[in-house]
Amino acid sequence: MNFKRWFALFVFVMLVGWFGYDAMEKKRDEDRARDLRNAQQQRKSREMKVPTPSKPPGDMVVNLTPGKVWFVGKYEDGGGIEIPFPPGESPEKSVDLTPLHDNPGYVGPEQCQECHREKYQSFLATAHYKTSRPVNESTIDGSFTPGSNTFQTSDPHMSFEMVHRGDEFLQRVHFFNWSFEVPMEIIMGSSKMAQTYLYWHKDGLYQHNVTHITDGDQWINSPGYIDGDAAYARPIPQRCLECHLTYFDYRGEKNRYTPGSLILGVTCERCHGPAKQHVEYHRENQDARDAVGITNPADLERQVQMDICGQCHGGTRVLKGDALSFQPGDRLENHYDPPDDELDAKNSVHTSNQLNRLAQSACFEQSQMTCIDCHDPHHNERGNRKLFSSRCMNCHESESDCGFFPQAGVDFAANCVDCHMPQRPTEKLRLKSVEGDVFPPLRDHYIRVDEAATEQFMSGLNGQD
Ligand code: HEC
Ligand code: HEC
Ligand code: HEC
Ligand code: HEC
Ligand code: HEC
Ligand code: HEC
Ligand code: HEC
Repeated sequence: MNFKRWFALFVFVMLVGWFGYDAMEKKRDEDRARDLRNAQQQRKSREMKVPTPSKPPGDMVVNLTPGKVWFVGKYEDGGGIEIPFPPGESPEKSVDLTPLHDNPGYVGPEQCQECHREKYQSFLATAHYKTSRPVNESTIDGSFTPGSNTFQTSDPHMSFEMVHRGDEFLQRVHFFNWSFEVPMEIIMGSSKMAQTYLYWHKDGLYQHNVTHITDGDQWINSPGYIDGDAAYARPIPQRCLECHLTYFDYRGEKNRYTPGSLILGVTCERCHGPAKQHVEYHRENQDARDAVGITNPADLERQVQMDICGQCHGGTRVLKGDALSFQPGDRLENHYDPPDDELDAKNSVHTSNQLNRLAQSACFEQSQMTCIDCHDPHHNERGNRKLFSSRCMNCHESESDCGFFPQAGVDFAANCVDCHMPQRPTEKLRLKSVEGDVFPPLRDHYIRVDEAATEQFMSGLNGQD
C-alpha cells in the first residue's frame, strides 16, 4: 500500500474517531443500504439478461404439422409441449401487413372523445372496454415477483415462470433443463373473472398456457388445457375475437389476422356501427344537431335492438358467413345459426344465454322490456344492487308490489335481484385452479319467483348461511 492510501485510511480512522460511534453506525447503515441496492441491481440485471434458448431434449421433438406445429413430447403420457415455432427458436415478431379487406369504416373509440367526452370517459371503466387490451404494467394482473411468479404443474419436469423484463411480460416454460419464453401481448378478459393472454407468431394469434384468475389471485392452466402440458399452439379463431374485439382483418386459415388492423375492446362501434362517415360529417358540419351516419339502438324495434347484444350474449351461435358481417339493425338469424344446446353442453362458449333466459320472464312477455331497461352500456354499474333494483321499480312502482313484502329485516328496495335473479355458478365458466374448480356465478336472467333463492337470502339474514 502506498503512502496516499495509508494517509487516507488514517484520515478515515481519525474522522470516525471524531464523529464517534454514531457516525460508525450511520455509515454501517449506509453500507447496508448500498449493499442491498447493489444486490437488487444485480438481481435486476440478471433478470434483464435475455436467456438464449437452450436446446430442447432432441429425441423428443416431432414436427406435428410440417412447418406449423412442433411437439416436444413426454414418453410417459403422450403429453408435452406444443408450439407453432421450431423448438430452440422464439415466436417471430408480427410484421405489419396490408389488410386483405377494406375496413368498412371502424375508427376506434378515441375518435368519439372530442364530441362525446362524458360517454367516452365513463365507458373506459366498463368490462366491454377492458375485455381486450394491450399488455402493460397497468393492465396486467398477477405477480411477477420471484417467489410468487411461478406455476408448478403436476409434472415435476414442467413448470412456468412469469417474467417482467423492461417493457416486456413473458411466460417462461421450463421442461427438464430446457426453457423458452413466449411474450404476453394481448389481454383477453376484463379481470372480473380472469385474464388470458395472446401472442403473435408472424400474423397468427395464439393463446398462452397460463391464465390469471382474479379469485384468489392465482396463475392457472387456461380453461380446457391439460395440467402438465404446455400448449402454446392453440389458435384464436375468429368467433373468439368477434365477441371480445371491435374490429380485425381476417387473413384466413383459422387464426391469421393483420396485426395493425385490430381495434381492441368491445367498443362504441360494435353497438352503433362503423362511424367513419358520422365522424367526418360532424367534423365538417360543426353546427349540425341531427346525427348523420350512425345507429342509435334506442330507435330500433325491440327485437332488433336486442339482437345487437345477442351477437355475444345469445349463447353458442356459429357464424353462417364472415365474422363481423352483422351490423346493428340486422337480425341475428341472418348471420348465425341458432344456439345449439348440444354445442352449449360441450362448453364451447363460456357465457350464458341472457337473450333467451330473459325472454322467458313474465316481465319480458308483458312489457316492451329490453336489455337497456336495466343496463346502461356507457357506465360500469357492476355490483350496484340498489341501482339495479331501482330499474325494477321503473315498472313495478314500489317495493310493496312484491308479494313477499314486508318481511322483518329485509330492505326490499335495496335488493330485488338476489331473490328474483339469483347468482348461480355455471358449469360453463369452469376454471380449474390449484385449489379446485372455480365456477364464477352468473345472474339468471329468467326473472321469476325463485323459492330456493328466497330461502337462501332469508337464511343468510338469520346468519345460517
Ligand atoms: C365531430 C363531432 C362528433 C364526433 C367525432 C362523433 N360524433 Fe356522434 N354525434 C355528433 C353529433 C353532433 C350528434 C347529434 C347530437 C347528439 O345526439 O349528441 C351525434 C350523435 C351520436 C349518436 C346518437 C345518434 C342518434 O341518432 O341519436 C351516436 C350513437 C353517436 N353520435 C355515436 C358516435 C360514435 C360511436 C363516435 C365515435 C366513433 C362519434 N359519435 C363521434 C357528433 C360527433
Ligand atoms: C359468443 C361470444 C363469446 C365467444 C365466442 C367467446 N367469448 Fe369469452 N366471454 C364472453 C362473455 C359474454 C363473457 C363474460 C361472461 C358472461 O358474463 O357471460 C366472456 C368471458 C371471457 C373471459 C373472462 C373475462 C372476465 O370477465 O374476467 C375470458 C378470459 C374470455 N371470455 C376469453 C375468451 C377466449 C380466449 C375466447 C375464444 C377461444 C372466447 N372468450 C370466446 C363472450 C364470448
Ligand atoms: C354495448 C353496446 C354499446 C356500446 C359499447 C356503446 N353504446 Fe352508445 N348506446 C348503446 C345503446 C343501447 C344506446 C341507446 C340507449 C341509451 O341511450 O343508453 C346508446 C346510445 C348512445 C348515444 C345517444 C344517446 C345519448 O345519451 O346521447 C350516444 C351519443 C352514444 N350511445 C355514444 C356512444 C359512444 C361514444 C360509445 C363509446 C365510447 C358508446 N356509445 C358505446 C349501446 C352502446
Ligand atoms: C361484440 C360482443 C358484445 C356485444 C355486442 C355486447 N356485449 Fe356485453 N359483454 C361482452 C363481453 C365479451 C363481456 C365480458 C367482458 C369481460 O368481463 O371481459 C360483456 C359483458 C357484459 C356485461 C357485464 C358487465 C360487468 O361489468 O359485469 C353486461 C351487463 C353486458 N355485457 C351487457 C350488454 C348489453 C346490454 C349489450 C347490448 C346493448 C351488450 N352487452 C353487447 C360482449 C359483448
Ligand atoms: C319494463 C318493465 C319491467 C321491469 C324493468 C321489470 N319488470 Fe318485473 N314484471 C313486469 C311485468 C309487466 C310483469 C307481469 C305483471 C306483473 O306481475 O306485475 C312483471 C312480473 C314480475 C314478476 C312476477 C313473475 C311471475 O312469474 O309471476 C316478478 C317476480 C318480477 N316482475 C320481478 C322483477 C324484478 C326483480 C325486476 C328487476 C330486476 C323487474 N321485475 C323489472 C315488468 C317489468
Ligand atoms: C330486469 C333487469 C335486467 C334486464 C332486462 C337485463 N339484465 Fe343483465 N343483469 C341484470 C342484473 C341485476 C345483473 C347483475 C349485475 C351486477 O351485479 O353487476 C345483470 C348482469 C348481466 C351480465 C353480467 C353477467 C352476470 O351474470 O353477472 C350480462 C352479460 C348481462 N346482464 C347481459 C344482459 C343482456 C344481454 C340483456 C338483454 C338480453 C340483459 N342483461 C337484460 C339485470 C338485467
Ligand atoms: C327476500 C326475497 C325477496 C326480495 C328481496 C324481493 N322479493 Fe319479490 N317476491 C319474493 C317472493 C318469495 C315472492 C312470491 C310471493 C308469494 O307469491 O307469496 C315475490 C313476488 C314478487 C312479485 C310477484 C307479485 C305477485 O304477487 O305475483 C313481484 C312483481 C316482485 N316480487 C317484485 C319484487 C321487487 C320489485 C323487489 C324489489 C323491490 C322484490 N320483489 C324483492 C321474494 C323477494
